[in-house]
Amino acid sequence: MKNAPTKDTPAASVAPASFSREWLQLREGADNAARNYDIANAVSARFALRDQVSVVDLGCGTGANLRATASLLPNTQSWLLVDSDASLLDAARDMLSRWADSADASKDGLVLTKGHTTINVEFANINLASDLDRALAGRPGLITASALFDLVSEDFIRKLARACAAINAAFYAVLTYNGVQRWSPHRPADNQIASAFHRHQMGDKGFGPAAGPMAATHLADQFRLNGFSVLEGESPWVLGRNDRMLIEELVRGHAMAAGETGLVDAKSIETWIKVQRNGAQIGHTDMFAVPGASSPL
Ligand SMILES: C[S@@+](CC[C@H](N)C(=O)[O-])C[C@H]1O[C@@H](n2cnc3c(N)ncnc32)[C@H](O)[C@@H]1O
Repeated sequence: MKNAPTKDTPAASVAPASFSREWLQLREGADNAARNYDIANAVSARFALRDQVSVVDLGCGTGANLRATASLLPNTQSWLLVDSDASLLDAARDMLSRWADSADASKDGLVLTKGHTTINVEFANINLASDLDRALAGRPGLITASALFDLVSEDFIRKLARACAAINAAFYAVLTYNGVQRWSPHRPADNQIASAFHRHQMGDKGFGPAAGPMAATHLADQFRLNGFSVLEGESPWVLGRNDRMLIEELVRGHAMAAGETGLVDAKSIETWIKVQRNGAQIGHTDMFAVPGASSPL
């Protein structure tokens, strides 16, 4: 789920949605715990016999997807990290340098080592809504994205699936919000807030009307239509007492989004936000798709 942006784009604007480094850092641990193990294994198996792989990460934020995915891939990797937010690309450079065992500046980015793996990283400040082709021009073997697709339109997903097919690339999308949310303790107003939140999600986040909670379904449909074998698995956040800050931030983001739709009155939102939550489940889907009829496993 991609809420709690610092200045999420109102429905009328076409500027890319904006996310703070702090929010992305706050969610990274929960994201890592949520990733679907079977899907990750399928990715690992697919590349197990290769010496190297080139990867493009769409909407990379602070580089969390590279940090989580690199261990699944061959020991020589080239990554292009793409984002429309230059400050997040700077944060990615900084955080990846600190995550790696060693980090050296290269002509175009960084050379990292982590264990036995060498990772060349380049950074590209690209608005994917208008320039997807530029992001994929290097014809990567793997296209990946984490926590991105609820922001994009169904049209963008269609275009992306066609583009992956055209270059015969595998595709790994993790942590796509799928519309499931359960708050603990439950309150009757949860359903009304969820409906308003989903309405807000389907506003324009820079790509046209956003797929919101339908993104995972659209991804699977479009990749299958383009001849990919698709494997999907759940990757929910299961948050408890140790995730107090993340839960509070989620509640705040939901309340703000629901309020912006005008579908829930201010008093109801105020009451809802005051409920002490000790848990939440937020549904996500991970997906791995490989071109052609071969099984991704
Ligand atoms: C929810 S964040 C996920 C970041 C990262 N993948 C992660 O898992 O932590 C969505 C990311 O998509 C980027 N983004 C949003 N709209 C974009 C666009 N039109 N072009 C490129 N990046 C975009 C944001 O700047 C942000 O970094």
